[in-house]
Amino acid sequence: MTPRILVLPGSNRTGSFNASLAAAASVELAGQGADVNRISLVDYPLPLVDEDLKNESGIPENAMKLGRLIAAHDGVFLCCPEYNSSIPPLLKNMIDWVSLIKKDGDRAFKPWAGRYVALASASNGKLGGIRGLYHVRSVMMNVGTQVITEQCAVSGAAEAFEADGRLKDERTSAMLANTCKSLIRYCTMMSAG
Ligand SMILES: Cc1cc2nc3c(=O)[nH]c(=O)nc-3n(C[C@H](O)[C@H](O)[C@H](O)COP(=O)(O)O)c2cc1C
Repeated sequence: MTPRILVLPGSNRTGSFNASLAAAASVELAGQGADVNRISLVDYPLPLVDEDLKNESGIPENAMKLGRLIAAHDGVFLCCPEYNSSIPPLLKNMIDWVSLIKKDGDRAFKPWAGRYVALASASNGKLGGIRGLYHVRSVMMNVGTQVITEQCAVSGAAEAFEADGRLKDERTSAMLANTCKSLIRYCTMMSAG
């Protein structure tokens, strides 16, 4: 079966390096045979997580939309900016809202449960945002996903991409390809039951 993979950059910044990385990952995943769906959180604005708001108005419609989208895929490829060595608020807020979903109508529904997740980061710094991935990994494991070991960090991100979107550096490109390969392998195993 063709694995379905949702690619999601954790930045809405104009010219985001992680959006560029998400585009490169999408090309790589598709090239390796996955059915790829790349989205932007620009299209799913959410309020700050607030339990009073949740109790008064329920889960926001955009969080439900994201939850349904996540559940409709075998795997998620997250491209995560690093903020102060950790997870940026846009991404954490989205993960938290989706983690609060327990039902869709009358049906029990936990969008993150059992999804395979691959992590990548891009930063203009020397470490490529890899320190933040430690925190993202911990959060994603806590919400019930299976985070794969392989990951990809793109350093010097301002100069890392060719005009056509490919990664310039061979080693980084191989790291991305390997991360995609592993995610596809796990997702294929899951689709096969
Ligand atoms: C509040 C804040 C904290 C940051 N902390 C880090 C950091 O710890 N390490 C790092 O490499 N870059 C850090 N940066 C720079 C980001 O990596 C940079 O803004 C990057 O472009 C964000 O990803 P994006 O291009 O996908 O939006 C920080 C940026 C902000 C706004």
